[in-house]
Amino acid sequence: MGKVLIKNIKSLLQVRESKEATEAIAGNEMKNLPSIENAWLAIEEGIIVAYGEMKDWPGITDWRNLEVLDADGCFVFPAFVDSHTHTVFADTREEEFVDRIKGLSYQEIAAKGGGILNSAKKLQQMDFDQLYEQAFDRLNKIMKLGTGAIEIKSGYGLTVDAELKMLRVIKKLKENHPLTIKATFLGAHAYPAEFKENHQGYIDLIINKMLPAIGEEGLADYVDAFLETNYFSVNETIKVLESAAKYGLKPKVHVNQFTSIGGIEACVNAGAISVDHLEIMKEKDIDALRNTNTIATILPSCSFFLSIPYAPARKMIDAGLPVALATDFNPGSTPSYNMSFVLALASIKNKMTPEEAINAATLNGAKAMEVESDLGSITLGKKASFVITKPIKNMAYLPYSFGENLIDKVFINGELF
Ligand code: NIG
Ligand code: FE
Repeated sequence: MGKVLIKNIKSLLQVRESKEATEAIAGNEMKNLPSIENAWLAIEEGIIVAYGEMKDWPGITDWRNLEVLDADGCFVFPAFVDSHTHTVFADTREEEFVDRIKGLSYQEIAAKGGGILNSAKKLQQMDFDQLYEQAFDRLNKIMKLGTGAIEIKSGYGLTVDAELKMLRVIKKLKENHPLTIKATFLGAHAYPAEFKENHQGYIDLIINKMLPAIGEEGLADYVDAFLETNYFSVNETIKVLESAAKYGLKPKVHVNQFTSIGGIEACVNAGAISVDHLEIMKEKDIDALRNTNTIATILPSCSFFLSIPYAPARKMIDAGLPVALATDFNPGSTPSYNMSFVLALASIKNKMTPEEAINAATLNGAKAMEVESDLGSITLGKKASFVITKPIKNMAYLPYSFGENLIDKVFINGELF
């Protein structure tokens, strides 16, 4: 598609001038979602080139190669930015889901060899092409639900070969899929069984074998670790982050999912772009994030699926922090890639207003994976990646009508999907 003009938009949301379009939105500011009622939007060669109110409809002199779309009654807003996922995996884990229904906890399942190690065993056995094709299909479904950019982690390999295989799959997805993709190395996701009593041995493998190869092939943008009781300690995590920094990988870290053990402060000091999960937050964890550039990324679908506490988003926003929302899509704790459902949970469970939730799922998500100069807001010069909803009464109807798919059309880089 060359030029597209969308007219009669009931409300064009998240419209920001370039000076504020690359800033994270923090604290009270999150309540403010700038919008234009009864609007039009013009895109050309995949870029947002103009917008305005219908009363100032542009005088069109050249109708050639111009497609006009009528969005009467519909909302338009930037495509979601899902800054935390584990989209490359070999198989789903319904057996563990049933075990949890019968009363086992996520940690108990992991302790008996299920969980991340279960996924790793299957991924190690699957060949590159099958992993790639499965992930490509998932990305198509993800895109249809309105996501325009996605971060994907490794961490189901846990051997040098399998971690590299995962990251090469992500690299090929980056090259071939229309979504904007960032890759995160999560070798420190769980200790493989053979390193259960030899943590230093696995850390050495990450530092001496995995990271140099990743650096050499340019396979990752970020580094992550599961900083958690019974997984990676603060010290173990920091060793990995420090070594990864030598290859230019910035931290985005799983922390405070089940316990608060000083991880947030350590990650902030290590220059984390984001800290993610945050279900269990002490006052000092929130304090450690004040006046920093680290985004607080929360994952309410994980809380929903595992029946664990929801992150205290209200407290974090009221403390002035920038909160982002992501799915955490993965086969163990969150088998859902639906960002609209995340919006609903954020409002219903985390008590975020619809405006706060949309800010968190667009511009703050973009900050959490450093794509804010291209995505996350309706801004001149940014990529034309946005959604058109079905006709709806108002914006609050989106999270209110949870479970209903209200995303009608999705534009990614100016292409309609
Ligand atoms: O973000 N918590 C750590 N990692 C994933 C779940 C991994 C799994 O269970 O496969 C998460 O929830
Ligand atoms: Fe995760």
